[in-house]
Amino acid sequence: MSKRWYELLMDDHAVTEKLFAAMEKALELEGGPGQTVVAKFLDFVMNYSDKGHSLKEEDYLFPLLQERGIPAEGGPLGVMLMEHERQRELVAVLRKHGGAYVHGDKAALEPFTEAFQEYSTLCKDHFWKENDILYPMAIKVMSPEDEESVIRGIEATEAKLGEGCRERYYGLAESLAQRQDVKDLSFNLDRDVLALMLNTLPVELSFVDADDRVQYFSHEDKDKIFPRNRSAIGQTVQQCHPKKSVHKVNKILEDFKAGKQSVAEFWIDFRDMKVYIRYFAVHDREGRYIGCMEVVQDVAHIQKLEGQRVLLDEE
Ligand SMILES: [Fe+2]
Ligand SMILES: [Fe+2]
Repeated sequence: MSKRWYELLMDDHAVTEKLFAAMEKALELEGGPGQTVVAKFLDFVMNYSDKGHSLKEEDYLFPLLQERGIPAEGGPLGVMLMEHERQRELVAVLRKHGGAYVHGDKAALEPFTEAFQEYSTLCKDHFWKENDILYPMAIKVMSPEDEESVIRGIEATEAKLGEGCRERYYGLAESLAQRQDVKDLSFNLDRDVLALMLNTLPVELSFVDADDRVQYFSHEDKDKIFPRNRSAIGQTVQQCHPKKSVHKVNKILEDFKAGKQSVAEFWIDFRDMKVYIRYFAVHDREGRYIGCMEVVQDVAHIQKLEGQRVLLDEE
């Protein structure tokens, strides 16, 4: 399914924050960041953030919101435009000092770092305001045609930057994050906390590796829909499954490994439950198949939900 305009813009925000995380790590290195890292960072903020992302908003989203009654002077649009202006000033400073650093001027690192800190802090705060305040406000005043016109605007902006520019810049940010070893957010968690979280999930998880061997299952000490014991660890999934369904499991795993599909799902009536069983292919950052995750849950209660209960309901 194609993405909606705000998902496209929020993807830009998320990728930019990953780039910032990579740059932050590079700046902590003894001897300073590599010159190519700084050059790539500058390429991204000058040519994608400034000439791409900001213009998608300034040329297409913001004028439309103004037409739909959100004033440009004062209010959220005014604040966003003011912040874009400051971002642009800081990109010029980054370009000056970053460019000098790339050409061997080590003394330029200090003013570059200072500008980077102000720029990244400003952008992160700006992205949060757009994601959480401006975009939800925009969705309320926009018609489906308006949404289409913003999507076309996003495409037109990217077309000016050259075909495939989004993929190219997303790839650049991802490769910098990998090079600087920016870890997944779960690495910030204590192992005990991670284990407690996995065991608190309202679904039961199992993981089999690329050789089809069970490496993990959650809820070991809790009631499970399909009981299993620690002795399952290390066994092949074929050994753990009832004989009559093994051929199906094998087919799913074959398809996952061949990249023919990445999800398979089943649902069965079991005791008084409606058990929803899903298999997901798990790939590493390079796209290599590293195993299969099984997610099992009783969805009987979910099937009965109607209407809504919102967080802000008065008691
Ligand atoms: Fe913005
Ligand atoms: Fe934005």
